[in-house]
Amino acid sequence: MRAHPAVNGRLTGMDGRDLVRSVRMIKTVGPAQGLRSVRAAWRARRADALALPRRGAERARVPGPATGAEPQPGGGVIHFARSSLRVRVAAGGAVFCGWDGAAPEPSYALAGPCPEVDARAVLEPDTEGGWRVVSERVLVVVSRHGAVEVRTPGGAVLRRELPPRWWEEADASGTDTAAGRSGGGGAARWVQRAEVAADARFFGLGGRAHGPRLRDGVYRLWNTDPGGAFAPGDDPLSLTMPVQLVVADAGTHLVFHDNSWDGRVTLREGVEGAGSGHDRPGACELRMDGGPLRYWVLVGTPARVLQGWTALTGAPALPPLWALGPQHARWGFAGQDEVREVAAGYAERGLPLSAVHLDIDHYDRHRVFTVDPERYPDLPGLARELRAQGVRLVSVVDPGVRAEPGDAVYEGGAAADAFVRDARGREVRGEVWPGESVYPDFTDARVRKWWGGLYAERLAQGFAGFWHDMNEPVSFAAFGERTLPRSARHALEGRGGDHREAHNVYGLAMARAGFDGLSELRPDERPFLFSRSGWAGLQRYGGSWSGAVATDWPGLRASLSLVLGLGLCGVPYSGPDIGGFSGQPSPELYLRWFQLGAFLPLFRTHSAWGAGRREPWEFGAEVLEHARTALCERARLLPYFGTLGQLARLTGAPYVRPLWWNAPRDRALRDCEDAFLLGDALLVAPALAAGVTRRPVRLPRGRWYDTATGRAYEGPGQVWVEAPLSRIPVLARAGAVVPVAGADGGTELEVWAPPTGRGGSGLVVPDAGDGWQRPDVERFVSRWEGDRVVVERRDGEAVGYPVRVRGLTGG
Ligand code: GLC
Repeated sequence: MRAHPAVNGRLTGMDGRDLVRSVRMIKTVGPAQGLRSVRAAWRARRADALALPRRGAERARVPGPATGAEPQPGGGVIHFARSSLRVRVAAGGAVFCGWDGAAPEPSYALAGPCPEVDARAVLEPDTEGGWRVVSERVLVVVSRHGAVEVRTPGGAVLRRELPPRWWEEADASGTDTAAGRSGGGGAARWVQRAEVAADARFFGLGGRAHGPRLRDGVYRLWNTDPGGAFAPGDDPLSLTMPVQLVVADAGTHLVFHDNSWDGRVTLREGVEGAGSGHDRPGACELRMDGGPLRYWVLVGTPARVLQGWTALTGAPALPPLWALGPQHARWGFAGQDEVREVAAGYAERGLPLSAVHLDIDHYDRHRVFTVDPERYPDLPGLARELRAQGVRLVSVVDPGVRAEPGDAVYEGGAAADAFVRDARGREVRGEVWPGESVYPDFTDARVRKWWGGLYAERLAQGFAGFWHDMNEPVSFAAFGERTLPRSARHALEGRGGDHREAHNVYGLAMARAGFDGLSELRPDERPFLFSRSGWAGLQRYGGSWSGAVATDWPGLRASLSLVLGLGLCGVPYSGPDIGGFSGQPSPELYLRWFQLGAFLPLFRTHSAWGAGRREPWEFGAEVLEHARTALCERARLLPYFGTLGQLARLTGAPYVRPLWWNAPRDRALRDCEDAFLLGDALLVAPALAAGVTRRPVRLPRGRWYDTATGRAYEGPGQVWVEAPLSRIPVLARAGAVVPVAGADGGTELEVWAPPTGRGGSGLVVPDAGDGWQRPDVERFVSRWEGDRVVVERRDGEAVGYPVRVRGLTGG
């Protein structure tokens, strides 16, 4: 993993690397913007030098010995000589731990008011002079020096947090610091180390290119525009989250540190039977630059943990059904005629297409909420024309607003006092696509309201969906960090604070502004938006996408890792730039990417300005035919995707799940990163390297059918399956009942024969349109009756769909 310069808000002079980056920036974006990006960098550095507190002498503090405890509903507060720890079990089993007086609120992650406490959870003295909180699903044991163990009700230790350590100004008072009392926290740095089982595997931390299993290394918590196409070694990327999902034989748990400051997570997997036969536990260290030390822990099966996590942070927004269809984007369409031609290209070849995305080049000189009148003289007309063909338009929306008198958005924002200011009260200016830009302060409800109203212009242009970009937020600084100065001031919902705390929630708050604005402007339609940056809770407003992934085989792998990782952090809807963002993929790479993308929630081709084209017919007749197969399969699976979207909303279970989802104790599955489950029924095994024509697939327990050949395989274990260029292997679980589109477009049930004498099941959530109606969940079972397989509805109603049984002749 690439090392990152320690930034920490410290001020260093321009070094050799800065100089190289400045020169490169000038070369890439041209002399005028390049020079402005040097100026933006200097300005940011100067602002921080003037306004950020300098670190003086610091003193380390640990909690010290326990002095007593106060039981409270759902747990209690344990007092230590130099700190206190609140432990509170919420109804549903989530455990909150807050040091130094930290409370669960205020929080950008929580969906609503803090959940009710579980009044049955009680704090009681422990035998060793410590304390314990006993609840139905989890046992928390606090030692008298402040180590906290999270155990299963049966007593197995899932996580052991060692006493934390803070570093604070030498003159700060010892206990109950301001840091703890406000949810926002102060600038005291802290570190917390934890141990997990030797066999545990780490997942999560938001969207990481290197994964989904997070191997030993340092992972930064600071949303970062990679500044060009990224590869698996690049960390961090645009969407980080202090959310870890830890899977071990003893159980699965999720830990969320509710703190948006910059930080680093150092992970080290354990070793079983290390040195003299003893296990070396897995280790996880979290170092934060400030903010409260408070966290939530959820324990259970992976499904239960994700359900608890979305109960806490919000149900995933449901994309309209069309957003589950194939979409095409490009940075650099020449104008509306070319958009029309691309849509016609799909139609003429009989290829399904549900949306075309317009990038910044459709804006008037890259200014947000404008349209280039020459290249797009009649955008509403184009939108209507495409809509009649079943194709929607999606618009990119960047937060940076060109800082220029006369720009309507700028003037409106300035009048509303909407833009981020520095410590001296001046607008903070950065450099982005439109030139010198200012940034709305989305951490202010008033500003979100103003920004949300601006989507009226987009809706009037005929756009149906929104693609939030550059919202880490980005300023093309030629050196230093490519974002706002850390000293920039933010409202933080009235508490006030600076960019050190607001940075990581900027994209999340922008998503909220867009979602709320759209819900108000078009109350009858569910908004569709996805965002490059975000934080815990983003799913409430929409999904995400990979950002600028590199066009090579490692980039293809990174695409899958990102989607899986985000799903395990509660953001189920995402996908990559199919074909890679930059350059030109080989026909084989393009096709393999396309075939993978067809099984991911956001199925979108996209590429950079000046990069090769990504239409399926650009790579020769053979690729076109195989891409057609993938597109048709996606169209056939649309009722299944729709069902998975609804289930994600109801249960938090992502569409795309790791193979261990239902078998977290299967260690071989835990380490398997090159295949995934699509819902409960399908297992997808993409081709992730050049020249692959067959590949090994690790199967979870049970019988699995190759959906192309009908051949049956028995899991658990590894099997080899054919992966010809024409398709990637997709296996169906025996007994599964899968809703698919029939030839007439209506839904049919595809049933995969259960093993003799056994049964199976499946859920169908019928499409209820693009509004807010709550659809019914229909439950089906499959079983043998004599020598035939029959399907029934659990509630005894008529099945109501044509049924097709498959797998009967499987070998
Ligand atoms: C960023 C995005 C990319 C987009 C480009 C221009 O690089 O990641 O998807 O095409 O900006 O808007």
